[in-house]
Amino acid sequence: MLKTTFRTGQTLTITGVPTIKASHFAVNIGTDDNNIALHVNPRFQRYEDYKRVVFNSCQGGIWGSEIRGGEFPFCRGTEFKIIIKFTGKEFVVSFSDGSNVVFPNRIGLEEYPFINVHGDCSITSFNIV
Ligand code: GAL
Repeated sequence: MLKTTFRTGQTLTITGVPTIKASHFAVNIGTDDNNIALHVNPRFQRYEDYKRVVFNSCQGGIWGSEIRGGEFPFCRGTEFKIIIKFTGKEFVVSFSDGSNVVFPNRIGLEEYPFINVHGDCSITSFNIV
C-alpha cells in the first residue's frame, strides 16, 4: 500500500516484473481495500481466465461488472509498464504494447488516497505526475 493520493489530471506509471510462476497480480486505486475505483488484474492463469486482464471496481466490498481487455501484454519474468491517466470521468489504462482500455470512474471521486499493488509481481518503479 502506497501513501500517495492519485488526483484528477494525473498520470500514474508503474513498471514491474511478474514472478516466474505468476498466477496474477493487481493494481488497485481507491479509498480503501473495500472501495476500489480501478482494479487492473492481469491474470496469467486464475479461475477460468488464461492470459486476460480483468478490470473492475468495488464498492462496499461488492465487485461491479467486469471489463476484460482484448490484449495480454504481460510475460512472466519480463518487465511490464502500466500507465494510468485519470481524467476524472475515467481511467485510461495503457500497456507496453500501446493497447489501452478506458474504465469509467464509477465511484465518482476526484481523488483517491489508496494505491495498492499486490500479487505475483515485484514493482521496479512507481511515479505520479
Ligand atoms: C474476483 C476476484 C477479485 C477480483 C474480481 C474482479 O473474482 O476474487 O480478486 O479480481 O474478481 O472482478
